[in-house]
This record gives sequence, structure tokens and C-alpha cells, in this order.
Amino acid sequence: MTSGVLQISLDQPFKDQKPGTSGLRKSSRQFETPHYLESFIEAILRTVPGIAGGTLVVGGDGRYGNRRAIGVIARMAAAHGVARILTTTGGILSTPAASNLIRQHQATAGIILSASHNPGGPDGDFGVKVNGANGGPAPESLTDAIYACSQQLDGYRIWGDVSLSLDQPGQQTIGALQVQVIDGVDDYIALMQKLFDFDQISDLLRGDYPIAFDAMHAVTGPYAKRLLEGLLGAPAGSVRNGIPLEDFGGGHPDPNLTYAHELADLLLKGDGYRFGAACDGDGDRNMILGHHCFVNPSDSLAVLTANASLVPGYADGLAGVARSMPTSAAADVVAQQLGLPCFETPTGWKFFGNLLDAGRITLCGEESFGTGSNHIREKDGLWAVLFWLNILARRREPMSQIMAEHWSRFGRHYYSRHDYEAIASDAAHGLYDRVKAMQPALVGQAFAGRTIATADDFAYTDPVDGSLTSGQGLRLLLDDGSRVVLRLSGTGTQGATLRVYLESYVPPSGNLAQDPQLALGSLITAIDGLAEIKNRTGMDRPTVIT
Ligand code: G1P
Ligand code: ZN
Repeated sequence: MTSGVLQISLDQPFKDQKPGTSGLRKSSRQFETPHYLESFIEAILRTVPGIAGGTLVVGGDGRYGNRRAIGVIARMAAAHGVARILTTTGGILSTPAASNLIRQHQATAGIILSASHNPGGPDGDFGVKVNGANGGPAPESLTDAIYACSQQLDGYRIWGDVSLSLDQPGQQTIGALQVQVIDGVDDYIALMQKLFDFDQISDLLRGDYPIAFDAMHAVTGPYAKRLLEGLLGAPAGSVRNGIPLEDFGGGHPDPNLTYAHELADLLLKGDGYRFGAACDGDGDRNMILGHHCFVNPSDSLAVLTANASLVPGYADGLAGVARSMPTSAAADVVAQQLGLPCFETPTGWKFFGNLLDAGRITLCGEESFGTGSNHIREKDGLWAVLFWLNILARRREPMSQIMAEHWSRFGRHYYSRHDYEAIASDAAHGLYDRVKAMQPALVGQAFAGRTIATADDFAYTDPVDGSLTSGQGLRLLLDDGSRVVLRLSGTGTQGATLRVYLESYVPPSGNLAQDPQLALGSLITAIDGLAEIKNRTGMDRPTVIT
């Protein structure tokens, strides 16, 4: 049944198809270069074990290029002997829902089309990410092998032009390949119903408890509408910007105080809402807000950990908790008091995957608005929203009170991340390498009225498989437990992005009610002095402060 297969040859391989922490992420224009997408898909289909005769889950966040890519993948999968493709109506599939589908349907792998929180559209970004049979991001050994394959390609195989309809659920075939289009929301909702107390949440939301959820014109709209307005009874209109658009309405679908400022203003300045939340382009990130209360993601992980016994899916106890290195140690303090193992991993979700697969942790999170659990192998935006709503439904206290009580029990980790985006690559690397070279001499030096106790480049030995990951960020650990971390982003597509992570701990007896930027003021000044950030980047202030 290979009669429809075309063999297309490439003049030369594309040299720039090295996947980063979140797959291959490039401009939409780049992906429209003839044969570019096909080359990367060919490398995936040649490299992922078990492809022939296997099942692939394919879908994306609905951005420009999503539907075309699904068509290309299906035609190429047919030419590579894939038995079944599971895709979704409109090709709409959030990253967490994709992780769940892979697991539920015992798929060989998944191909997720998304550039996460990066803007979309013809002038925006596109991305292709491979997930393994556990539902999580492919390990580096696999993405390295895909890259190596792309470097040597002289052609690819694709089924001749066939058109695929994604408009409604149903079954189609391309040669021997079965393409099954299903609703991308159903299975995800079924999973959420197993974890959370929908009756309690619904009781809260049907009372006088106005909420605002901002889907940012991205993938979570259909999920949030069915969950929040449908099953849980929040009034119509609670979900804002709920229709996925190919260019996300021209916005930047990243749920933080800068890019989701309309929602932030509603909650932080207005008086109409008790709870607010937003998710990113592909639905794996979350921002949580209460009335006049912003919950930073590091604190969010800590609060979920401390309150997990209130939520049915976690009431039996937690195996442990993990956070990425740049995330504040708020969860560590909770874990310690509850007697739970706690892990500090490099940035990126895949490091949690090993711990989750091995049953060593139940909850995990990153400061970059990512929170999740062992229910899937990706971070999960709407899951975090429901977790919070479940806690609020049980405790019936304002969010600000829940935070104040948390800090008065565990102390407060003042925390902020300052991002300097799209800086010249040379300037960024120059700054970074200079601080790295200075590090050995910094120990014992004064810094922001404290003393530098340790200065290192974070490295991690995976407790499950023993693998070593180094070069994960420059840390300055101070003698009072405060710290500053410098990292270069691995996901940007324009120039380089420098991230400066600032953290200082105040015990329960200290001042718990300061503005974080003020509480961190001396660290902010000191790191600028040491690293010459303003000078070397030519920027007066960070592009984004969270
Ligand atoms: C960013 C975040 C990181 C997250 C990644 C994927 O990566 O900082 O925590 O895992 O996006 O969502 P970075 O650009 O910092 O490399
Ligand atoms: Zn994302």
C-alpha cells in the first residue's frame, strides 16, 4: 500500500533544527520555508522508536500553521507505516490534554504543535515538540538523535496530496494509516473529574463568587468554557477571550502580570472578582490571582502542597515535591514541615518526568507559571486553576487570607524574576561568561549587606537514572538564605534573554507584608552593580518583571 508515497529529495539538509527545551521553536516564516517542516518531521519519524505500526497523538494550540502541520504529519506518517493517528477537532489540543491522550491511548509518541507562550500568526512563532509514551517531553538523548538525523537528511517520504478534514469527529484513512479525529476536550475533563470535587467547586461558583478566566485567545478557551461555565456553573462570560485565534488576537499569550495585565488589573485594582486566572498559548502555564492578591508561582506550589489533603485526588498524601532550581524555596519549607522529600531540578519539565515516573514526587512546579502533578507528564494550567478553586471551595476564605496564613506559618520567600529580552547575543553571553569567571573569587565577598556563601553554576545528578546535567544557571547564595540567580533563556527566538531571579526569605516573625520589589531592592541594586546589567544590555529596566 505504498503506491501514494512520494520521495522528495533535499538539495541540502537544514542545519538549524536543533530542538531546545521545548522542541523546535522558530518563526512561522521559517517553518514556511519549503521542506523545512517536512525535514524535521522526517527526522522525528525516522528516529522515534516504534513508529512503524504505532499510534501518534497529534494536535496543537491552534496557532497559525497548526492545521497545515497536522496535514503534513498525517501524510508523512502514512508514508512511514504509522498505524494510527489520533488528532482532534480543529486540531485543537492543549499540551496537558495531549499528554493525557498519549497516556490514555497508549500511544507510541505525540507531536505537539505549539510555541507555547510565544506570539503566533504569520509574523509570530511556531513550534514542534515530541513527547514520549509516558506523555512527557522527549528526553535529550532522543531530541539529540532527531537533530543528528536532520543534519544528514537528503530527502523525505510523504503521501501524495490528500486532504484531511478536522472539522468533526470521525475516521479517515490515508493508505493503511487510520486518522481518528476525536474531541480534544472530553478525555481531559474526565481526568479533572477524577481529581477534584466538582460539587464543592460548583457550590462555590454558583454562589456569589465572580471569577474571571482569561484564555488569551488561545487553546484553553474551549476547555475552560466546558469546565468553568458548563460543568461548574460559573456565569457565562466568566471565560474571557475564549475562542482560539490563529494569532491569539495579536497578543502575547503568556499569563504574567505584563502580558495578562487586563486580567491583573481586574483583580488587583478592581472589586468585581474574587478569583482570576489565565493560561498560556498551549495551556500548560497558569497565573493565579485573588481579589487584590497576586500569587507568585513559587508560592502557589507551596500552598498547593500545604493544602493537598483538601483535594480528593491528593488526599491520600504526597510522595514528594519538586521545584526547578530558579523557583523559590517556598515549597521546600512546606515539604520539610510535612516530612516530604523535596527535589531541586534544572529548568524544564522533563526533569520532573523521571521523578514522577519513579513515583518519587506527586507535585512539582516552576517559577515560570508552571505547576503540575503525577496525573500527566506536562505542567497543567487548568489543573492548577481547579486545584486552587477546590482549596477555596473547602476553606471559604479570601485568597489574601490564605496567603497571609501560609506565610505566618512557613515564613515568606520574597521573590521576583527580571527578564531582559531580545538583547544582542554577544552582550548576553559576555555578561554571563564574565560573572561565571568571577564566581570563585566572589565567595566571602560582601553583597547587598550580606556575604556570598556559595557561588556556582548549578548542576544536577538525576536521582533516578544518575545522569548529570550541568551549566544550569549561575547562583549566588548569600549567608542569610537569600540568593540571586542568572540564567540565559533556552526558549527565546530573538537574540538572547537574560533572566535574573531574586529571592529573600523572611521567617514568620519577620515583616511579611512588604512589596516584593522593595523587599528585594538591595539585591536588585547589587546584582546590577556586579553583573553590569544595565551597561552591558543597554537596557534601563527589565522587559518583564514577575
Ligand atoms: C522557560 C521557563 C522555564 C520553562 C520553559 C518552558 O524557559 O523559564 O521554566 O520550563 O520556558 O515553558 P527559559 O526560556 O527560561 O529557558
Ligand atoms: Zn506553554
